Amino acid sequence: MNKKLLLILCLIICSVCMITACSSDSSSGSQGGVEFAADEDVNEETGKQVSYDSTEILFYTNFDDGDISRFSTRSADDPTSLAVTEEISKSGKKSLCASGRKSEKDGPVLKLDGLCEANKEYCLNVTVMQKDKSPVNISLEYTDSNGGLQTQPLFTTKEGGRWHSVTQLVVSVPEDYQSGYICFDGGTSDIYIDFINVMALPSADIEFDIESLCEVFKDDFKVGTAITPSDLRSVSTVALLEKHFNQSITVGNELKPDYVLNLDASLAYFKETGDDEHPQISFEAAKPVLDYARSLNIPVRVHTLVWHSQTPTWFFKEGYDPKGNWVSQEKMTARLENYIKVYFETLTELYPDINFYACDVVNEAWMENGRPRQAGDCKVTDGASAWVKIYGDNSFIEKAFTFARKYAPEGCKLYYNDYNEYMDGKLNAIVEMAEDFKAKGIIDGIGMQSHLDVRKGTDAFPSVDMYKRALDTYCSMGLDVQITELDATVPNNSGEKYFEAQAEYYKGIMAAAYEHRDNISAVIFWGLSDDKSWRASGQPLLFDGNNKAKPAFYSVIESRK
Ligand code: GLA
Repeated sequence: MNKKLLLILCLIICSVCMITACSSDSSSGSQGGVEFAADEDVNEETGKQVSYDSTEILFYTNFDDGDISRFSTRSADDPTSLAVTEEISKSGKKSLCASGRKSEKDGPVLKLDGLCEANKEYCLNVTVMQKDKSPVNISLEYTDSNGGLQTQPLFTTKEGGRWHSVTQLVVSVPEDYQSGYICFDGGTSDIYIDFINVMALPSADIEFDIESLCEVFKDDFKVGTAITPSDLRSVSTVALLEKHFNQSITVGNELKPDYVLNLDASLAYFKETGDDEHPQISFEAAKPVLDYARSLNIPVRVHTLVWHSQTPTWFFKEGYDPKGNWVSQEKMTARLENYIKVYFETLTELYPDINFYACDVVNEAWMENGRPRQAGDCKVTDGASAWVKIYGDNSFIEKAFTFARKYAPEGCKLYYNDYNEYMDGKLNAIVEMAEDFKAKGIIDGIGMQSHLDVRKGTDAFPSVDMYKRALDTYCSMGLDVQITELDATVPNNSGEKYFEAQAEYYKGIMAAAYEHRDNISAVIFWGLSDDKSWRASGQPLLFDGNNKAKPAFYSVIESRK
């Protein structure tokens, strides 16, 4: 296959996974790797403007030429044998078969030496499968200058027994890297690799000569952002964070109940003690981001303890069985208290030197009409709340705040956080609740998520005035206010057409925040650049996919003047 054809193939694959990325992940930031069914039809009509013009393909094989010289096993004592086989193939006629694996860590590796330079970004695309039902783990391993082995998990496929096309895994190795490889392991059956390529991503250096957002607002409020572990693999994303958003980090997903509550450990504890009121937790998923925040001394917002979404069903069920009966209110209250207690205790024990300055105790509990959510399991009925299912109303909110006040570390302020927080019914419910909690001394502030829509400008929702009215109301309550997840979309795939309207809108929102700077302690953006946003097609952030400041960046700076 000639190089041009190959580039087109890569473009198609990248396009498909862009579609999948936008449609499959509504609740998180960038995933840094996307899997789509290898049998899926290829659709070139993405509409998304992604230019790979300057992308260089550094390495490609579908093994049809029989060359496996870039592959080896991880170490000399790994018994895996590697051979090209015609037995099975997804594209072309052949694939690489890694057989004779004895342990989960045995397997084939792609050697990066001579391929990847330090501090540059690369994109890995691979079609891979495991013979039995086990998933394949894909990770980057390299030796650092001290001879230490560093491992970064990149992706885990779904179940084995079929091909998985995993695309857009961003890989970069640091300055002190000596030798590195991409490892394929997990399970113990044969692993097959078919199509694999490594592309150099166009460099997206940040603009160092512009003002720094957090510097500009340093006397007013903290400016920060949300990141996920995969963001940390991109050198330029990290540079952008360190220049503009170094006052606050929100862990995009990994401090949510789904990631923290640990089923295996909870079941083991239950089996050993007969006690199913002490759910067990783990902060393993959040570790990369927390380690990073600690290394740079960046304060962290804890997001979020109690939510109807991204929370495992088993947490609410007898014996932690997702198919079991709902527990009683008494048992749930005991679980809630023990969970919040162990959450804060463990966090502060593991990271005594991180300033956990804010915590979203409860997220999204009120509806736009000012009522609690529908009772149920949100994995079955969209938007339903298992909390309401158990308590019959929103009384769990006060319990959560009471426990959070009891166990949160000193200096960690407690927030109620919500979206559409400018709509009357919801706003009134929040105000009424917060006034009551304020009198009881169990709340410190309101988190306004602020997922806004500029649309074409004139039809923005909310309008800047509507948003300002909500801000005025919350700020007049004598509680702190934080803008916790700011982003403002323009029409999908509209290029730069509405960037000026977006700039004008951001200016209005930020001018209102600046006016209330005495009551606002933080303005947090939900992501760093448009391409990594959960609403990527609406280009809602201040930096574009090349990390260039958009008109909205400059208007935000101007709003301060
Ligand atoms: C809500 C949540 C966030 C995040 C966003 C979407 O606003 O509070 O944690 O999941 O949705 O990314």
